[in-house]
Amino acid sequence: MRGDLLLSSWKMRQPQMAGSGALRIFHGPSESEGDSELSRIAVELFMDGSQSFAWVYTWEQRGRFSLGPDFKDELIHFFKSISVSGAVLLERPESGAPRDAELLFGNVPEFLDIRENGANFRIRFLGTKHPGLFLDHAPLRTWLMNAKLSGKTVLNTFAYTGSLSVACGLGGASKVTTLDLSKPTTQWGKENWELNFPPLGESASGETSEPTGDFIYGDVFEWLPKLIKRSEKFDVVLLDPPSFSRSPKKIFSTAKDLPGLHALAFKLLQPGGILISSINSAQISASQFRSQIDLAAKEEKRTLKVIAPLAAPPLSFPGADYLKGWIFRVD
Ligand SMILES: C[S@@+](CC[C@H](N)C(=O)[O-])C[C@H]1O[C@@H](n2cnc3c(N)ncnc32)[C@H](O)[C@@H]1O
Repeated sequence: MRGDLLLSSWKMRQPQMAGSGALRIFHGPSESEGDSELSRIAVELFMDGSQSFAWVYTWEQRGRFSLGPDFKDELIHFFKSISVSGAVLLERPESGAPRDAELLFGNVPEFLDIRENGANFRIRFLGTKHPGLFLDHAPLRTWLMNAKLSGKTVLNTFAYTGSLSVACGLGGASKVTTLDLSKPTTQWGKENWELNFPPLGESASGETSEPTGDFIYGDVFEWLPKLIKRSEKFDVVLLDPPSFSRSPKKIFSTAKDLPGLHALAFKLLQPGGILISSINSAQISASQFRSQIDLAAKEEKRTLKVIAPLAAPPLSFPGADYLKGWIFRVD
């Protein structure tokens, strides 16, 4: 029964798989048809053309987050039926950070390089709490790749493994600065960059149209003021903060710090530039989020025009409304 539901969700997505080596193939909260165990999981598939591997995530519910042995067996049976070679499981407790993903079955590689819509990304399975690619941001990556950013400079903050930086580079940006607080994540971002562009540090010959990649391992709340002090300006700024973060410089939360963060971004943005701002939080509504951005825009005397709203892709994340944000033109 559970296997049938997983299979039909997988089949429904098959047309999308033709163009993508990464896809959420099951989104439990909206596809479980009342099965409480299934409602607590999501499944993502990563394919490199010859092999495919899966990530399974659980959501805690009423103090339970471990999958029982029968459910694990059903999942393994399903994976084998669609020729998945191995899978990992990440169980998320109600509070606190999850442990790293553990092997559910089969063998998984140290990493798998996949293609999404013409871009290359490195996916990891063990020794990590996430595969390295947020699949709900796939529409934004596509938008950036098609955005005609030719000659534009980009500042990608809270960048994680830099997938949005890669998309900007492929979209024609001349220079992309990628900033994140985590050292391993910044290293992963460099690997993703080098899967798509010449090695970092190799000076571009005058004729090349390849973008320059600049990676900063550091705190947004230290670096943005530093860049402002240096009078640096960017044509595109991306903000995608977590709900909560603790750095030596600041304890950030989306509940109280969104206007201050956006004010910093506005100071760095050229007139007529593009601001991309998104959050991944069920705690804040889109209108509350928008009013925080508007507050900062008013303070900084900038006017905003929405180019496009942001949302998780409805076909692979049906009913998911936690990801929200906008692409703005900022005058
Ligand atoms: C939601 S993820 C961003 C996802 C990313 N935009 C993407 O599409 O892959 C949040 C990231 O913010 C980083 N981060 C958290 N606090 C930070 C801070 N104060 N300065 C810089 N980066 C921070 C984390 O290390 C994490 O990689």
